[in-house]
Amino acid sequence: MELARRPETMERITTIQQAEAFIEEQVAEVRAQVGDGKVLLALSGGVDSSVVAALLIRAIGRQLVCVHVNHGLMRKGESEAVIDIFGKELDANLVYVDATDRFLDLLAGVSDPEQKRKIIGGEFIKVFDEEAAKLSGISFLAQGTIYPDILESIKAAESGKPVKSHHNVGGLPDEMAMELVEPIKLLFKDEVRVVGEALGLPHAMVYRQPFPGPGLGVRCLGAITRDRLAALREADAILREEFDNCGLAERVWQYFISIPDIKSVGVKDEMRYEGWPAIIRAVNTTDAMTATIEEIPYEVLHKITARITSEVEGINRVLYDLTPKPTGTIEWE
Ligand code: XMP
Repeated sequence: MELARRPETMERITTIQQAEAFIEEQVAEVRAQVGDGKVLLALSGGVDSSVVAALLIRAIGRQLVCVHVNHGLMRKGESEAVIDIFGKELDANLVYVDATDRFLDLLAGVSDPEQKRKIIGGEFIKVFDEEAAKLSGISFLAQGTIYPDILESIKAAESGKPVKSHHNVGGLPDEMAMELVEPIKLLFKDEVRVVGEALGLPHAMVYRQPFPGPGLGVRCLGAITRDRLAALREADAILREEFDNCGLAERVWQYFISIPDIKSVGVKDEMRYEGWPAIIRAVNTTDAMTATIEEIPYEVLHKITARITSEVEGINRVLYDLTPKPTGTIEWE
């Protein structure tokens, strides 16, 4: 398939005004493409799928069906935000699937990171397919493909290697032949964010830090247990809140907590208290191939440590990972 290239004359979208003009143009194009047909979208709550959802709701309202699969590995408040913003505020036709038990049952006892990724990715496609099969009359599939995805495919094609498909929802049943709707496929990430703001999406959603597909699954290190996952979710929420409060959230590319499957001896309320350590990671990078460590002021580290150890059940120590990439990768798994 011939991949559309961005016309050289296309101006970079940097202002709300330019974004509004782009939105108007895309609304007209989408309406012309889909007519009164129904469109399906996997809405993860990430920047790209959220912007596509908001744009399509503007264009075709409830002809868009959004499916949000909660795999139980989302950060605190993320699925709730999808329901609030899209289901309630924007009155989207939203199918919410809480598949937490399905994912956690499959992952029980699995400690190999690649195996965990395979299970999470495979199950995600399965759940999405099952939900899609329940719907009828869908003839279009919307995707949050952006221009770097297209460039990657073009580069692969030019180098003679098989074209890596950027159509990465994947795995839909063959009989569900659907035409693609990709309204932001000529935009770079910074432009997608401006369009998101122009569409009225919350700042926190539009400027969300990158979050891996397997979510907290690769930060609850080793075999995932529900209690350690719950501790991780709470500790991560505290870290994010404190980074927001001191302005670090605007400066740091990615910041998160990981919790290993080890316990150490501590004391709490004058009693022996065995708990897990929470490990802070805060890195800056441009392409995720290498990364440097963000300097976090000691007072911020002290505050985060005090809050996590007093507010989160099961954690008795907080560590700060000072390792750049290389030698460490950004994620621990
Ligand atoms: P590493 O750990 O390889 O991470 O230095 C580089 C970037 O990739 C993200 N990452 C993933 N993203 N699925 C994803 O969608 C994954 O399995 C995955 N593993 C790592 C990581 O968060 C960082 O931004």
